[in-house]
Amino acid sequence: ETNAEQKPEEKEALGDFIYNPRTGEFLGRTASSWGLIFLFYLIFYGVLTGMFILTIWVMLQTLDDAVPRHQDRLASPGLVVRPHAVEISYNRSDPTNYNPYVQQLHDLLQQYNDSIQEGNDLCLVGEYTDQDDQPKKKVCQFKRSNLRQCSGLPDASFGYAEGQPCVIIKLNRVIGLKPEGDPYINCTAKRNTPLQMIYFPPEGRLDKMFFPYYGKIAHPDYVQPLVAVKLLLTKEDYNVEQTVECKVEGSNLRNSDERDKYLGRVTFRVKVFQ
Ligand SMILES: *[C@@H]1O[C@H](CO)[C@@H](O)[C@H](O)[C@H]1NC(C)=O
Ligand SMILES: *[C@@H]1O[C@H](CO)[C@@H](O)[C@H](O)[C@H]1NC(C)=O
Ligand SMILES: *[C@@H]1O[C@H](CO)[C@@H](O)[C@H](O)[C@H]1NC(C)=O
Repeated sequence: ETNAEQKPEEKEALGDFIYNPRTGEFLGRTASSWGLIFLFYLIFYGVLTGMFILTIWVMLQTLDDAVPRHQDRLASPGLVVRPHAVEISYNRSDPTNYNPYVQQLHDLLQQYNDSIQEGNDLCLVGEYTDQDDQPKKKVCQFKRSNLRQCSGLPDASFGYAEGQPCVIIKLNRVIGLKPEGDPYINCTAKRNTPLQMIYFPPEGRLDKMFFPYYGKIAHPDYVQPLVAVKLLLTKEDYNVEQTVECKVEGSNLRNSDERDKYLGRVTFRVKVFQ
């Protein structure tokens, strides 16, 4: 009984709350009160947005396109090996088997073609090519033909057909890096007897002339120095998986980080069938 009487009152109270015709209040506030609140938030968020845009704009004005802004400590570069594969595994009697690897090497070396590199500069062997003040950075030439048997020129199959394949080791680019000492690549096969290898350029040298690198914008035609390694596999090595580790040595570049197994070193596997 009491419930039935109360209901209309409750309804009336709620209706008054949403819109009270006597005071003209809507949800407990007058139209001008609502207007002020709306205006306040409009200005408040407007100012916030303005400040945000201003901050971003100021940041963008102070950024230099050529150099990353926050680089307190130069990263140590990683090594990569080409052809890129979990395992370089192929049948040397079957060209369709190794052509994808050979093609990768040809693609990588396109930009090192002698005809292109002849347009670049001859730099001093064993000296950094410092050019902080020059607006136009010169590019030291690295000719593909210097990789000789691993250049893909005298032997278009990079040794894959004869079962003594070449791989190419590349040091990742780090802007401003100037390795101390005389860095070179040293590869070792993880097995009991040593595996013979030939390095191009000789001794696997990474010449200092290719450092420092000034970044994509300041140094657009820059090419990284490469080291090619020809694995002199013999009959006994065929059909057996070979694991080879290459490291950059002879310099202050890090190559034995516990947590990063690509820092200054790289491991790859090769299996040649005949
Ligand atoms: C390699 O290819 C040759 C020619 O196609 C074939 O005779 C031989 O059986 C292949 N070897 C292996 C291990 O698959
Ligand atoms: C580079 O040289 C190779 C072999 O001589 C040739 O096939 C290729 O077209 C050249 N690439 C460029 C970009 O010049
Ligand atoms: C290459 O590394 C191996 C194994 O760490 C070492 O025995 C050899 O002396 C190194 N060769 C050079 C030229 O540094």
